Amino acid sequence: MDINQISELFTLVTGAQNVITGERLALRNTGYCAASYDGGVLLTPGSAQEVSGICRLAADNGLTIVPQGGLTGLVQGTATASGQVALSLEKMNRILDLDPVQGVVTAEAGVTLQQVIDAAEPLGLAPGVDLPSRGSCTLGGIASTNAGGIQAIRYGMARDNILGLEAVLADGTLLDLSNTLLKNNAGYDLKQLFIGSEGTLGIITKLTLRLHSRPSSVQTALIGCAGTEDLFQVLASARKVFGGSLLSFEAMWPEFFTQIATHLGTGLVSPDCGIYGVIETGHWGDVGQDDTLTAFLAQCYENGILLDGVAAQSESQRRTIWQLREDADVIESRKGPCLSYDVGLCLSDIPGYVEQLQEQIARECPGVGCYVFGHMGDGNLHIMAGPAPDPASHAAIDGAIYGVLQQFPGTTVSAEHGIGLEKRAQLPLSRPAPALAAMRRLKTTFDPQLMLNPFKVFLDLS
Ligand code: LAC
Ligand code: ZN
Repeated sequence: MDINQISELFTLVTGAQNVITGERLALRNTGYCAASYDGGVLLTPGSAQEVSGICRLAADNGLTIVPQGGLTGLVQGTATASGQVALSLEKMNRILDLDPVQGVVTAEAGVTLQQVIDAAEPLGLAPGVDLPSRGSCTLGGIASTNAGGIQAIRYGMARDNILGLEAVLADGTLLDLSNTLLKNNAGYDLKQLFIGSEGTLGIITKLTLRLHSRPSSVQTALIGCAGTEDLFQVLASARKVFGGSLLSFEAMWPEFFTQIATHLGTGLVSPDCGIYGVIETGHWGDVGQDDTLTAFLAQCYENGILLDGVAAQSESQRRTIWQLREDADVIESRKGPCLSYDVGLCLSDIPGYVEQLQEQIARECPGVGCYVFGHMGDGNLHIMAGPAPDPASHAAIDGAIYGVLQQFPGTTVSAEHGIGLEKRAQLPLSRPAPALAAMRRLKTTFDPQLMLNPFKVFLDLS
């Protein structure tokens, strides 16, 4: 089928204005995945019924569907090719219900995280999942990738925060798994199958998220330590002192930190530290002038585990501290395109991993920069490495990242970004063969024609 025939087919379900091709498609931003629209057709349905109709038509005509959210994913999970029809949930962008007593919000899948943050704030509530792409990432994308983000240390990942959802299966079945109860053990918890399965088992059209009491104030600090071991001691003390009030504990290695600090024209702390961190704590109720975090920093300094630290004195200083951690795009604008990784390790293995990785990259990939940062409290490291202008240098960097990773037990090749197209070859490093076989069985049970997000996650299913 050519693009015109595909367009005509789906116009029957969505109307012509929601079938986007040619010039209209070319004008759109492809997000972090340059191949998002390579298939040449994008559908923007307005309801779950339309999504269901699209799936039925696709199944009858041998077409495949690639569900898309805010296009902020980093593993090419939204890439399309000829015969693969992109389906964006962007028109399904309504918050349907927000119950402040129950502490839940139900919304269509195309709602952005920022929309939920803004709707919940006046009610003293906030979602538990927060991530740097909050302005454009959507709830459907968050759910289908089981996003983690900067508060996973406190509230868990997406699957810990999603109470119910609605999904359309490959054959068009509308599966109503809606639920607003925290406790519901009536049979299998099927929603978990759709969370984190990257649109390969069904298309999430609606979901209910837990909301949490929004802190009446937060305190944020940028810290610098001599090395990772000291940063771990600060983390251990912060857990003891702050308990459930510790919202975020992030890390930045000097190569990363220096790039962003230079770009912003401020580092706020000494540039001679071996590692940097961001700590954020929440405070509830009428706490008045709260300087617990400042007192905590002073104590760490006295104990010799902190070289330098500053607690934000204003919202604008807090923003700067978070920019130092979140503006990772700066690395690419300064250094050119980088490969992006999101491995996970036990905390005690992190210093050895980073040291060996940096050694191997310096030895085997001359000229390649290695910028490490991440969610230290979760053992989730992000690594940006580049330039990698050709397949051979890409393979050499992959070899270093995953070769060194395999020397440590209990690691993961993807702590939060998922597998998409990019990490398929590495998936077997993190899951044993019987687990992979069970995943394939699930996939072929739910989607026997392999029509939902084809070629994603599995290298050997086609
Ligand atoms: C972050 C994204 C890369 O944490 O996961 O900035
Ligand atoms: Zn992250």
